[in-house]
Amino acid sequence: MKKVTDILNTQYPLIQAPMSWLTSAKLVAAVSNAGGLGVLGPNAGQTTVTRDPDETAKRMQSEIKKVKRLTTKPFGINILTPKTDRSVAETRFTRELLDVAFIEEIKYFVVVGTAHQELFNLIKEHDGVIIFRPLTPTIDQMRLGEKYGADVAVATGSDEGGVIPEQDFGTFTVVPTMVDSVDIPVLAAGGINDHRGVKAAFALGAQGVYIGSRFLMTDEAPMSDQAKELVKKSSYDNIYRVSPTQRSIKTSIAEKYAKEEYLNPHNNDLDKQINSHGGVRPGMLLGDFNTGIVSINNGVDILNTVVSVKKLVHSLMDY
Ligand SMILES: Cc1cc2nc3c(=O)[nH]c(=O)nc-3n(C[C@H](O)[C@H](O)[C@H](O)COP(=O)(O)O)c2cc1C
Repeated sequence: MKKVTDILNTQYPLIQAPMSWLTSAKLVAAVSNAGGLGVLGPNAGQTTVTRDPDETAKRMQSEIKKVKRLTTKPFGINILTPKTDRSVAETRFTRELLDVAFIEEIKYFVVVGTAHQELFNLIKEHDGVIIFRPLTPTIDQMRLGEKYGADVAVATGSDEGGVIPEQDFGTFTVVPTMVDSVDIPVLAAGGINDHRGVKAAFALGAQGVYIGSRFLMTDEAPMSDQAKELVKKSSYDNIYRVSPTQRSIKTSIAEKYAKEEYLNPHNNDLDKQINSHGGVRPGMLLGDFNTGIVSINNGVDILNTVVSVKKLVHSLMDY
């Protein structure tokens, strides 16, 4: 099996997971300069909302150019897969983002969702490397991703921050199961916040790690100071399930959602309400806890310092 560092052309088998608004050229370049693979998420580096696919792609192109000014090391972008019954051409956000990525000669594509043959083929035609993360890591999805040409797979346990997998399986069961299911290297994701988590990932058979929440607590991350302070003083005693697909640290709006989710579980309307308020943007990027949630992994007690990316990567990977 090819080594992850050879596939990614990085010093460490480490990917900074894409986290929409909470990523930026500055964060991504810092991760790549520190020896991992930085990845731009959707809306990376932005503060204002646009629903126009052209404008979204243009903004991404400008952020890609910024990363190139800050590093000569490899970095990637995040592509969310179209629904399996829709073609790439029909999905304007994906199509236009891909066009920009190909113009900018992006090599690393973190593809998240469900395996999509046409999308995988397009990336391969442009010599792209596919890091595939099924949103819900089933054995079928992992194998389909491998069959369609993924170079690396990501196995995510439900400890993760962001949109949580549909089945509630923890990182300790998901990682070895996925490692045994495919012949491509598997990265572990979900709740990895320090060198103990990294060591555990390798012990479970992963060939590397894919880390999101921990990178939010860095000097370079665009998360607001208010949200960084809230995360620092939070404990997993005050993490709530706020919708079928999300958790949040206690904020005033999170308490309200949590009560509704408790009384009426699996209520998709709560996801719609969170999205209509702008998802993670108000709470995390702007620090407005009256309208926003703060989505972070379950290991929040360990996330109690804000450090430089360089120091973090060193503490995670050189032990
Ligand atoms: C605030 C936040 C936003 C996220 N946004 C995205 C996203 O835009 N695209 C995506 O593929 N995953 C997104 N994720 C999931 C991460 O890419 C990754 O799977 C997760 O953070 C890994 O688990 P960890 O947070 O325990 O390290 C997000 C996660 C967080 C915490």
